[in-house]
Amino acid sequence: MKPNRVFTRRLFACVAAVLLLTNTVALATTARPAYLDPSLPRDRRVDDLMSRMTLEEKVGQLNQLFYLSQFMKPEMMEPGIREGKVGSLLFVTDPALINRFQKVAVEQSRLKIPLLFGFDVIHGFRTIFPVPLALASSWDVDLVERVQTIAAREASATGIRWTFAPMLDIARDPRWGRIVEGAGEDPFLGARIAVAQVRGFQGQDPASPGRLLACMKHFAGYGAAAGGRDYDAAYISDAELYNVYLPPFKAAVDAGVATAMSAYMDLNDVPATGNAFLLRDVLRNQWAFKGFVVSDADAVGNLVTHGFAKDKSDAAVRALTAGVDMEMSFPGNSVSGTYSGSLAKHVQEGRVTKAQLDEAVRRVLEAKFKAGLFENPYADEARAASMHNNPEHRRMARIAAQRSAVLLRNEGNLLPLDRKFSSIAVIGPLADSKRDIRGSWSLADDMKSAVTMLEGIRAKVRPGVKVEYAPGVDIRRAYPSIFEVFFGPRPAPWNETQRQEEFDKAVKLAGSSDLVVMVLGQHEEMSGEAASQSTIELPGRQRELLEAVSTLGKPTVLVLVNGRPLDISWAATRVPAILEAWHPGAEGGNAIADLLWGDATPVGKLPITWPRSSGQIPIYYARNLTQEPETKPGFKSRYWDIPTSPLYPFGYGLSYTSFSYTNLRASKPTAKLGEAVEVSVDVENTGHRAGEEVAQLYIHQWSGSASRPVRELKGFERVVLAPGEKKTVRFTIGKAELTYWSSATRGWVQESATFDVWAGGDSTATLKTQFQITQ
Ligand code: NOJ
Repeated sequence: MKPNRVFTRRLFACVAAVLLLTNTVALATTARPAYLDPSLPRDRRVDDLMSRMTLEEKVGQLNQLFYLSQFMKPEMMEPGIREGKVGSLLFVTDPALINRFQKVAVEQSRLKIPLLFGFDVIHGFRTIFPVPLALASSWDVDLVERVQTIAAREASATGIRWTFAPMLDIARDPRWGRIVEGAGEDPFLGARIAVAQVRGFQGQDPASPGRLLACMKHFAGYGAAAGGRDYDAAYISDAELYNVYLPPFKAAVDAGVATAMSAYMDLNDVPATGNAFLLRDVLRNQWAFKGFVVSDADAVGNLVTHGFAKDKSDAAVRALTAGVDMEMSFPGNSVSGTYSGSLAKHVQEGRVTKAQLDEAVRRVLEAKFKAGLFENPYADEARAASMHNNPEHRRMARIAAQRSAVLLRNEGNLLPLDRKFSSIAVIGPLADSKRDIRGSWSLADDMKSAVTMLEGIRAKVRPGVKVEYAPGVDIRRAYPSIFEVFFGPRPAPWNETQRQEEFDKAVKLAGSSDLVVMVLGQHEEMSGEAASQSTIELPGRQRELLEAVSTLGKPTVLVLVNGRPLDISWAATRVPAILEAWHPGAEGGNAIADLLWGDATPVGKLPITWPRSSGQIPIYYARNLTQEPETKPGFKSRYWDIPTSPLYPFGYGLSYTSFSYTNLRASKPTAKLGEAVEVSVDVENTGHRAGEEVAQLYIHQWSGSASRPVRELKGFERVVLAPGEKKTVRFTIGKAELTYWSSATRGWVQESATFDVWAGGDSTATLKTQFQITQ
């Protein structure tokens, strides 16, 4: 080799070595860990992150804490976040504070894992929509999806990336306060509303702008609390679980819901939060749910209170091994922090395996990646500000309230109101209440912007019409609500003299007016969590006031503001018009005025059977036949003091027009097991106004391995009809609709049998046909 070539080679080798070295140094200083690389697949990122985590950091991801600004200071939270001991916070609704906490997590903690902020975005965030029971009364799944899309947009702009909704508990007992939070009594309707909510919150991708992670709750059976007493034990047969209580949850899982919350109560003697049958057998094994499970607040520590776990440390093991991935707790109380307090030790000692811990941590991290938190951890504070009183959102709130109201009675077509009335008495304790128009879980809005019934009516009437208000009575709960911290106590009760004066004043006002609008019902805190009651009577002297006003013989409309069916049997035969508004949300007053004066037409239907009185509870339409069915000649009511039938049936709701159903037919008289039958019916608008009807389809299976409910909803469709217009509505009854879980075979069955089919405007529809399913 010539010397100059040797030299050149050496030179090249030296340059190459230097280049390699500088590259390596550069790589070492700039290369980010794989889990922070958004171009890599999610699994890879989770694997990489987990491989770097200490045991304590893993446990930290399973720790979710309340932050209540009323009692806490940010400095109390920050050290824990910095040390990687907190995976999630709930109840922070100020975007600046969210960003402050998030900055500590992503800039100061060792692994920079973002926090997941959660909140109960139940029926709106900054804009309050009708309560969930009301939204379900719309039977309008598109509406429900649009409402939750807006709620997600408002909350996610604020940095909240996880909502504790939808609440999917089937409820058949209106004494239970939380009936207001769900979609009522029916699994079919409940499942459709569940899917709409999951889609609204999560969209196609919960990481996309304006979306967040949904959380189906409370898994499962919470609505069956004995006596309607909140948190009480539920005893539910497997058949009822699979056929009634679980279908909305299953539908949510199939729709891709990201997370689930375990319920508080004992289910068949095993608390839901330590219930491996629910959380492993059903949720993971039968349904292949991939998301993570969070406990309800302090529910893990309360496994001790239940008398199920020995102590807090045992509770942590029982919950984690049953399938609760994250623990939600109030920092610093006697039942909080069981995971953060003892899981690491249990893993070291082998009571919890590393694999069990990793499984939980993996699911939580997957959700954080799925929510796009590693890429977009912060709230956009400017955007968050634009979510207050957004006109487009308010417009939607008004439409939602119009469509959620249910017209229960309209004698002599008093509604829509004639414009001739020139003096209107608006009476009742709820008519001018901004707090109550919104309903429970309205915790992050601007209450002052809510429109009351009185304000809505005043804005609606033509100039010169006198609208005067008298509350008439005051109503109150016997003990404060758990949410009082947000609103403070109600004003002091009236004294005896005031009480009589106010009562008389209201009656006098009614007597001197052309028209009376009475707004009665319940305060928002009379339903919701820890708001059960023993009777469904109107609280306070409201019924007495109604009677006193009714005897005046004035045209009277009763508008109900409430979160559960109430005993209005007296009014149902005496007050000409009754409109169920529920807690209709921030635009409630405007929406109800629209309905009263005919600028909107009622389209809602009851998602729950309406009892005549408390003594009928529980009462629901999908009960089993007895040997004394109502159809038997000489049938005697099963109560001798009141009728067996409810005041208003499930699915019921009037319109300002009328509809008729004809020509119900099945596509074939007989089908084989597994084949579908098409059922169609003609619906006609027989009145003089345009209207919209919810055509409902019910079936009953005659004979089988188990008794089947007298009727079950298996289809519903909205139809918009001009006066005189007729449309054909079609339903498909296939394997899914005909399959049920049989107590006799202890499994899912579809059986050959004769099926009755009814179609109509509520669950008492009489138009009937049949088909048979054969082998
Ligand atoms: C308790 C309630 O049961 C649950 O529904 C709610 O999501 C959590 N608290 C968090 O607020």
